[in-house]
Amino acid sequence: MVKKHFRMVDIIAKKRDGGELSTEEIKYFIDGCVAKIIPDYQISALLMAIYFRGMTDPELAEFTLAMAHSGEMVDLSGIEGIKVDKHSTGGVGDKFTMGIAPIVAACGVKMAKMSGRGLGHTGGTVDKLESIPGYCTTLERDAFFKQVNEIGVSVIGQSGNLAPADKILYAIRDVSGSVPSIPLIASSIMSKKLAAGADCILLDVKCGSGAFMKNEADATTLAEKMVNIGEHNGRRTMAFVTNMDVPIGNKIGNSLEVQEIVEVLKGHGPAALTRGCVELSATLLVMAGKGTIDECTAMVNQCISDGSALQKFIDMVKAQGGDTTALEDNSKFPVAPICYELKSPADGYISSMDAEAIGNASTLLGAGRETMDSVIDPLAGIVLCKKTGDMVEKGDVLAKLHTSSEELVEPAAERYMDALTFSQYKPPAIKLVYAVVDKNGVRKL
Ligand code: URA
Repeated sequence: MVKKHFRMVDIIAKKRDGGELSTEEIKYFIDGCVAKIIPDYQISALLMAIYFRGMTDPELAEFTLAMAHSGEMVDLSGIEGIKVDKHSTGGVGDKFTMGIAPIVAACGVKMAKMSGRGLGHTGGTVDKLESIPGYCTTLERDAFFKQVNEIGVSVIGQSGNLAPADKILYAIRDVSGSVPSIPLIASSIMSKKLAAGADCILLDVKCGSGAFMKNEADATTLAEKMVNIGEHNGRRTMAFVTNMDVPIGNKIGNSLEVQEIVEVLKGHGPAALTRGCVELSATLLVMAGKGTIDECTAMVNQCISDGSALQKFIDMVKAQGGDTTALEDNSKFPVAPICYELKSPADGYISSMDAEAIGNASTLLGAGRETMDSVIDPLAGIVLCKKTGDMVEKGDVLAKLHTSSEELVEPAAERYMDALTFSQYKPPAIKLVYAVVDKNGVRKL
């Protein structure tokens, strides 16, 4: 058969005009990105055309598969039993993975998890775990499998060869305005999930001011697309569409979030964060065939109250070389040298918070990256003392800004205050979960 030749400019023009790319055109593009024969400006142009024109379902399926196959397809068969995975589309204060991974392992379901670093205003599990002195996020494949077989859980960073096309596309999207696109997010996440090899995938699709999807309809469509991709590739896939209008828990920042998840695993974390950990963990157990939702919820609550989930977290950190002193005794968590109390200028209710701006305030304090080579300050971040719905009086502490550098306080304080809206009236209660999506469709809650 004669090999077909493509020109990138024709592919860009086809998508610009609303056409559907063929499997061969998609493969040419993805392979060409990885082989570095397509220049960044043409990659960027196609991504922007996709942002505006979208993709059909078959096109999205081919695009995702081409990205997944651009690198190693991890074979987890060396780990016994059902392997589960979980992924969040990105939020502020989102520390669920660090709670869920040890909880499901303590209930007998294995999690061999490859996580990401922070992106934009959102945090990343790898950065959070690396705030634990000594914790190694780069295990060799054999050591990774051995640890999951022995203790049931390991959380490491994504290997350089896991969906390398996504790394290239993401870096370009990040700086060229095409991040919040449903097909581009769905293919980015699902290519990595398919390549990472788990049998069951639970997606936490965030929706609201701190998420890439700002409204419920878009977040639900994204969830449906990702569930379809997973199911069509033989993985049991479910998604929760969850609220991201308010930061999750009361602590944002790497070491602060480890501290807060340890509180959850000890049974005295913030109520909404604990409830989220319990519901997502119990759902993963159901997907892995451990029982009904009521039975699995009881198992999860039991492993928190008897200390086995916390012990699993400690075992994982120890196995990956981390110092567990502070995990065993919260008073040993190091604190940033500067802790600035931000006080309320007036009386009233906090009627809303711009969670993205709060994530950015935390980045300004040193908890995230300003540029690709910024070094993270593990102790930087924000402790939220008042959240949406709380009544405050003038002079009450709204938040504590943690940082290592005095000059970072003012810009972060300004950003934080701009993120809050005050009102005389109590706002309506916040709904935490909007919908659950599985292969049978969307169930609104
Ligand atoms: N997380 C990802 O991995 N990719 C996206 O595009 C957005 C969030």
